[in-house]
Amino acid sequence: MTADLSPIDRAKYIAARRAVEFIEDGMRVGLGTGSTAAWMVKCLGELIRDEGIKVTGVATSARTADLARQVGVPVATLDDVRWLDLTIDGADEFDRNLNLIKGGGGALLQEKIVATASDQMVVIADPSKEVDTLGAFPLPVEVIPFGWQTTKALIEEMLSNVEVTGRNASLRLSGTEPFRTDEGNFILDLHLRRIINPAQVSLVLNQIPGVVENGLFLDICDVLVIGSADGTVEVRDINNGTVQHERIDLIDSENLFVDIAE
Ligand code: 5RP
Repeated sequence: MTADLSPIDRAKYIAARRAVEFIEDGMRVGLGTGSTAAWMVKCLGELIRDEGIKVTGVATSARTADLARQVGVPVATLDDVRWLDLTIDGADEFDRNLNLIKGGGGALLQEKIVATASDQMVVIADPSKEVDTLGAFPLPVEVIPFGWQTTKALIEEMLSNVEVTGRNASLRLSGTEPFRTDEGNFILDLHLRRIINPAQVSLVLNQIPGVVENGLFLDICDVLVIGSADGTVEVRDINNGTVQHERIDLIDSENLFVDIAE
């Protein structure tokens, strides 16, 4: 029941419900990772079941692939389909230009590959993710385990030459062990606070040996769907320059996939 959801989950659900309206019969769709994207995968499963549309999903993580199969979304690999019509994913931060920080869930590498291989990227978020300047959320950087401490030192040295207000990097842990991405890599979280020139930071990070990819998604997002707990939704289209305000009418008895474990 929607009334049982916390305000934040309600907002994420509203964004997801609106975003699946971008999906059309026959599309190849990139499936993001994270709690907001999980709502979208569940809504897509419902759409496939209720309306009989045919969709091929390409997951951005093993856990999204598991969830997709569980809710009846057919899953293929990116190598199977090569190019996608649409990707729908969450974000940790977005700014007014629809630039993003992603990777809080550790899936930034596959997320960036999949989003870049898509004609359109739709990002779903709740209003708390909006910032004036990217960087309050620690910037995730995927690095290979070999020599990671040297890579970290090189990153910290590089940070002294770019316009940011914090310069600490920390290894992401899972319990007492380093967190491992689906590719077996590590994540360094960069506590930058304010990233004045995201393009410069992204470029120099990716030139450091050992860095696989960083969580800045610049000029990749086309449409941002911001859901709110009161059922309203804002749809910003960066290409058309439009901002639409809509309302999603929720039926209180709506089946919210209570039988599906994420
Ligand atoms: C995973 C991501 C997620 O999209 C991001 O962390 C947002 O997650 P959530 O929707 O749970 O807030 O980038 O790597």
